[in-house]
Amino acid sequence: MLVKHYSKIRSASIHICRNLKTEDFVAQPEIFISPPKWHLAHTTWFFEQFALVPNKKGYKLFNNKFPFLFNSYYETIGERIPRNKRGTLTRPEIDEILNYRRYVDAEMIILLDGKINKELFNIINLGLQHEQQHQELLITDIKFILGNNPLFPNYHNFINHQLELDTVKPLNFLAMKEGNYEIGFNEEKGFCFDNELGNHKVFLHEFQISNRLITNSEYQEFIIDEGYTNHKLWLADGWNWIKENRIDAPLYWHQKDDDWFQYTLNGLEKINPTAPVTHVSYYEAEAFARWKNKRLPTEFEWETACKKNENKIPKAANLANNEYYEPAPAKTNQFYGDCWEWTSSAYLPYPFYKKSDGALGEYNGKFMINQMVLRGGSCATPADHIRATYRNFFYPHERWQFTGIRLAEHL
Ligand SMILES: [Fe+2]
Repeated sequence: MLVKHYSKIRSASIHICRNLKTEDFVAQPEIFISPPKWHLAHTTWFFEQFALVPNKKGYKLFNNKFPFLFNSYYETIGERIPRNKRGTLTRPEIDEILNYRRYVDAEMIILLDGKINKELFNIINLGLQHEQQHQELLITDIKFILGNNPLFPNYHNFINHQLELDTVKPLNFLAMKEGNYEIGFNEEKGFCFDNELGNHKVFLHEFQISNRLITNSEYQEFIIDEGYTNHKLWLADGWNWIKENRIDAPLYWHQKDDDWFQYTLNGLEKINPTAPVTHVSYYEAEAFARWKNKRLPTEFEWETACKKNENKIPKAANLANNEYYEPAPAKTNQFYGDCWEWTSSAYLPYPFYKKSDGALGEYNGKFMINQMVLRGGSCATPADHIRATYRNFFYPHERWQFTGIRLAEHL
């Protein structure tokens, strides 16, 4: 059972890379992008380092130098190549990385066939969840690599008419009563990251939250109304950020004559007015909400509204299993899928949060500074990798993930 699960998740990473050319595997156009080749090796290193080395008797590293190349940020493990140098690794070539994956997979399958104690099970499960996080990063990093190439090459030719609606449901608001609500992961079974633990209560005033994400055409109204040049709408950091970086539209938007185009994994396409706006920073989401005389929800408001209105992931949710990899017009309340939703909550530890000992304690806890929480998953998130309590986090200026906007207000 675990072998099947392991093999399925591992092969999904290879599947995402099926359309890439050799040169695509190496590029690192910005420091926050990792080359696809590096993702494939790093996720493999994770299993080698944390599952095989401590648990498989006589295990021999595939290559003694690989831990230096493919450790991401684990200080406990030791020295590693600087992040901005990942794109200089023309060697090991992709075939060698694929050999590395096969070698580790074969060793992992032998390990999985044996006796697995709870601690090892948890490490393997974490490795698989980690692999799925990198699958999302693979998609968004591939989009950044291809989308910043002046030729705007296609990743795929994806047509799914079911996802291409001409109309969108009216923007309405879902009312939520004031009261004490439980926040965080509190289930007997199932996986969660340590940052979801510390189940606790919060008091929320009466509020309402929008029944879908903000669309491209709604965001275009903000642009037409000179939202990007009205300092009154912006936080000081956001205003500096748009000035310094000459930002006047979401990432991947290109204006030609009077029309807006957007780079998608299908190549450059005309903006779809009914699809959710995506690739916006926290600053842009916040300014848009202010322009609408609304605000972004807190992560606690988001979680309680999600649990009430979309307790389970709807079948129509647009997650990575659609292989569309673009947000689509709303068929649901869109709490799940399409875009990660910026919340107004800083990424902080919950009360009772405990960082685990050892290297894996570095997984989440040390990033709880200067970042904002996003909720709900995106069109690049695997469907079995998202839940109402899942906390994602990015810096407020970052927008290469599929990030979007949901509005809220107090009543
Ligand atoms: Fe990682």
